[in-house]
Amino acid sequence: MKAVPSLTAETMALQRSFESHRPKGRRLFCDPYADAFLRPSLRALATASAIPGLRRLAVGLYDAVGGPGPRPSAIVRTKVIDDAIAEATTDGTQCVLLGAGYDTRAYRLPALKDHRVFEVDHPITQTAKHLVVDRLGLDDRHVTYVPIDFEHDRLADSLLSAGFDPLVRSTFVWEGVTNYLTGEAIDATLGVVHDLTTGGGVLILTYIDARALTDPTPFPEARRWVRAVTRAEEPWTFGLNPADASQYFAERGLLLRQDDSTLDAGRAWLTAQGRSEHGSGLYRIAVLEPEHGDRD
Ligand SMILES: C[S@@+](CC[C@H](N)C(=O)[O-])C[C@H]1O[C@@H](n2cnc3c(N)ncnc32)[C@H](O)[C@@H]1O
Repeated sequence: MKAVPSLTAETMALQRSFESHRPKGRRLFCDPYADAFLRPSLRALATASAIPGLRRLAVGLYDAVGGPGPRPSAIVRTKVIDDAIAEATTDGTQCVLLGAGYDTRAYRLPALKDHRVFEVDHPITQTAKHLVVDRLGLDDRHVTYVPIDFEHDRLADSLLSAGFDPLVRSTFVWEGVTNYLTGEAIDATLGVVHDLTTGGGVLILTYIDARALTDPTPFPEARRWVRAVTRAEEPWTFGLNPADASQYFAERGLLLRQDDSTLDAGRAWLTAQGRSEHGSGLYRIAVLEPEHGDRD
């Protein structure tokens, strides 16, 4: 990883900001804090998108650089995961946001406001986030920051010493991260999630279709997208073929409950709002249930 805060985390904040500036009733969600994580030039672009006459220009400019896939895919995945967290969060559960970046769910989702949230991320991005959360004056007493590098540090030890309780039901979210890691780091992290969920729980993660890395022809948006993340010096390194996903996760003690592309997951919502944009076939959201033989 680079020694600067994650650019792809900031890009996600920008995409969420564009969506949040859409009129009420014509957006998939609202993240009122997303703007605060943006550098001035990107904040100006996001603010311009709130002005009806400029919206198309501002968002169009962004899509022209990034290509047609990333933004609609990002907003669909945000909505799917918001809903999945709300469904999984019940009295007394805890939530772990792995590679949290500038995810503000701990503050904006009513479901999480009264629950313990652990935000795990690379220390450089996490420090940048903390400064913004402080500046905004957000009440983060329910949030515990856990700085780690998935490639080098011991997630289990860090979570346990931060107060995570494996006997309490947990919602783990790993959004927009597996595609930047090595297979070894993913294996180790999935192992930790499995081992720390003896109290029950769910893991919601995203992954990219491995074919986008080798033969992008099935995905018209793939080439530009791969180029954009490489330019950001956060290249995609890992993907899974959806046909193999169930077995891959089963071998790691995780039962695949749901697995959709953002193209399929977002279709009905976007159509209902009269929007012609669509998610991406290469970007997938999986819901997994850790299996513990002695409990089942
Ligand atoms: C695309 S951003 C996603 C952020 C957030 N989950 C979201 O969806 O908005 C990728 C995140 O993964 C984190 N990340 C990437 N590689 C990492 C590593 N080796 N260790 C810890 N965090 C890492 C980055 O710091 C960044 O916050």
